[in-house]
Amino acid sequence: MIQAILFDLDGVLVDTDVLHYQAWKELADRLGIPFTREQGNRCRGISRMDSLEIVLEGSDKPYTQEEKEVFAREKNARYQQLLAALTPGHAAPGAQLLLPELRRRGYRLALASGSKNAGLILERTGLGRWLDAVADGNLITRSKPDPEVFLTAAGLLGMSPKQCAAVDDALAGVQAGRAAGMVTVAFGDAALHRAGDHNIQSLEEMLPLFPPLEGCL
Ligand code: G6P
Ligand code: MG
Repeated sequence: MIQAILFDLDGVLVDTDVLHYQAWKELADRLGIPFTREQGNRCRGISRMDSLEIVLEGSDKPYTQEEKEVFAREKNARYQQLLAALTPGHAAPGAQLLLPELRRRGYRLALASGSKNAGLILERTGLGRWLDAVADGNLITRSKPDPEVFLTAAGLLGMSPKQCAAVDDALAGVQAGRAAGMVTVAFGDAALHRAGDHNIQSLEEMLPLFPPLEGCL
């Protein structure tokens, strides 16, 4: 029986995916490289350095590892500037109601995000107060589609994978949840691909999927 729900952050609880896109696009523009929305979508759920490889696809210049690290730092500095403007109102529609309601229904909630900026985003949006545990990019070595971040989140909650549902907007994230042996809820972009056991386009659609646990309410 599902007793815990593990949430991806970017593109699920907060619409930071558009800020990632903007920061990568500004870097690509500066380098004179075309960068499309489709490429931006492929950056969902994967690590910063793997995202940079997608940005550099359009370049015929062979950049060194040192140059790539400078580019990644430049993008992150710009991304953090954009994050500084986040407020609780920037949480995804319904997130500020959904999380307390799921807790009221008896579920334990955790974050399972590959982002190293997750702490900052949770603090600025106030979403952190609803989470029992946070697994983020600072705790893991292998990014999605590897299951590590979901397994780490489950471990922090003291739950087995079979007791967890994984919610993610990225194909890589849904694959990670499945590889972890969890029920998967694909959201937004991943749901368009029917990637999950459940496929939803709004957070409200989670409520019928997760009714109150026995003894709650
Ligand atoms: C999430 C996002 C990715 C991002 C990754 C690392 O998984 O969906 O687009 O590349 O986090 O984020 P960071 O904030 O550490 O650069
Ligand atoms: Mg995401």
